[in-house]
Amino acid sequence: MSSNPLSAYACPSLPQDAFASATLEGLGRSQKIIPCAWLYDQRGSELFEEITQLDEYYPTRTEIGILQACAPLLAEAIAPGAVVVELGSGSSRKTPLLLRALREPHAYVPVDIAEDFLRASASALAADFPELTVLPVVADFTQPFHLPPQVSGTPHPRLGFFPGSTIGNFTPAEAVRFLQHAARLLGHNRRMVIGVDATKDPAVLVPAYNDSRGITAEFNLNLLHRINLELGADFDVNAFRHEARYHDRLGRIEMHLVSQRKQIVNLLGHRFSFEADETIHTENSYKYSVPEFQALAASAGWHPQAVWQDPAGRFSVHLLSNIVSETA
Ligand code: AVJ
Repeated sequence: MSSNPLSAYACPSLPQDAFASATLEGLGRSQKIIPCAWLYDQRGSELFEEITQLDEYYPTRTEIGILQACAPLLAEAIAPGAVVVELGSGSSRKTPLLLRALREPHAYVPVDIAEDFLRASASALAADFPELTVLPVVADFTQPFHLPPQVSGTPHPRLGFFPGSTIGNFTPAEAVRFLQHAARLLGHNRRMVIGVDATKDPAVLVPAYNDSRGITAEFNLNLLHRINLELGADFDVNAFRHEARYHDRLGRIEMHLVSQRKQIVNLLGHRFSFEADETIHTENSYKYSVPEFQALAASAGWHPQAVWQDPAGRFSVHLLSNIVSETA
């Protein structure tokens, strides 16, 4: 019945029970965890957009600067008529930089877990690119999913777009598996553009994840509100605080929710006890030097074709290829 051409391609494996089981399983561990994908409900997605505007949060504006500078070179390396598949598309704010540079892009497939946010972003982008077919997919991009039928059987070259250093949310082993999964998704004539945040001084890193306005704290704590609202838990959100730590040996930022006292939380008939200072680990954000990331990608079969950085070396944008010969 909808006249909206962007009626999203529903994902059967997403719904509430997945959130419930991930939360129950994660809170049952000795180090409590909740996978970071669940930070992005509507409110979480909006808060993340606010984070990207913060003075302390350098990655977004640094990556946009790199993309502006490298887009023409990037476009030369990509065949005309590409289908751009963006994994974890969020606001799709960086996508126009890529789409405007590419030669006659055929379609844009934004994939995101936050359905309403995805639809709104996809509609806004479609309005700016009237010639382009925009086919949003509601899915957790870390799990297998199908491309929309309009593009799944066509010979158009596919370009994976994975900006924002979202790759940093995976452990290195998970990142390798993800890159292998992306290769399968993208078919044989595949390239990927990936943004990667660089290893740097913790004095720059930590404030990026613990800003002075407390937006990142609100983003992290929103997860507990969401669990209360959607799963009927009784978290006393005020009894938790946000913490960002840099783990030097692992080269990652960790976000935690720290219980400020001994307490018990009820969730779906289960009781979870927290000691004072016990934490829920809610996110990892790995940082990689250029050679570190290229080695990781290579172990998943992706070859470096080009890499661009900002002058200060805070962030890198990689063009990777993983072309399977059709005659092989
Ligand atoms: C969207 C996953 C790349 O790790 O920098 C920002 C998420 N978390 N502040 C990041 C995030 C806290 C962000 N990524």
